[in-house]
Amino acid sequence: MRRPLVMGNWKLNGNKTMVAELIKGLEAELNGVEGVDVAIAPPVMYLDLAEQLLGKAESKIILGAQNVDVNLSGAFTGDISPDMLKDFGATHIIIGHSERREYHEESDEFVAKKFAFLKENGLVPVLCIGESDAQNEAGETVAVCARQLDAVINTQGVEALNGAVIAYEPIWAIGTGKAATADDAQRIHAAIRAHIAEKSEEVAKNVVIQYGGSVKPENAEAYFAQPDIDGALVGGAALIADSFAAIAKAAAKAKN
Ligand code: 13P
Repeated sequence: MRRPLVMGNWKLNGNKTMVAELIKGLEAELNGVEGVDVAIAPPVMYLDLAEQLLGKAESKIILGAQNVDVNLSGAFTGDISPDMLKDFGATHIIIGHSERREYHEESDEFVAKKFAFLKENGLVPVLCIGESDAQNEAGETVAVCARQLDAVINTQGVEALNGAVIAYEPIWAIGTGKAATADDAQRIHAAIRAHIAEKSEEVAKNVVIQYGGSVKPENAEAYFAQPDIDGALVGGAALIADSFAAIAKAAAKAKN
């Protein structure tokens, strides 16, 4: 059985007050909610504060981050290593987000390198894949996702996906309010799983595949009702405690 994972990607948002209030709100809202893993990825600047607050609350919320470098230490100005993330209790690390692919020109190969580096260092990669609007219009969605996944599979073997998380995020649905329909998302998730199954049915069966792109409390239930959608990677709605908690609760309800 795959355990659902609802993760909040806070992106470049927040300050100390907001971090404290959001975590306090989440603790209250998620009290007693079982059957779903809930993770947050604040800006790296606030990991220390988040770790302290989660620790004080004896929280079950998993701490994550939004990026990692491919070096452990040395002359790499501005970068953050897996060891540093671990030092602050972060375990689930988002890589390959379309915003990093676009604004930082991260290639499939570079993202795959990050994937390998996270695994080597005992962290969980949350690998984002997904197509642009133009690729969607051209019917290239599955091919794009397969190519992005193959960058990992062809260099590290399909088994590398064991214990990792895949987040399917159509770029045209991110922050636009124009979410994929639950049926369309299910179709793509099934195709992604089938692509992995060509190499290993076992890995395909066990890997968690999240949907991301304008997930809100209003549409979350429809996604989680789909057999191949195992949770969500949430942007905007993850910045509001009751919205994010409602999405996590919808996953707990639908998957148990
Ligand atoms: P939104 O939920 O704001 O569309 O963002 C999705 C996302 O990019 C999560 O990584």
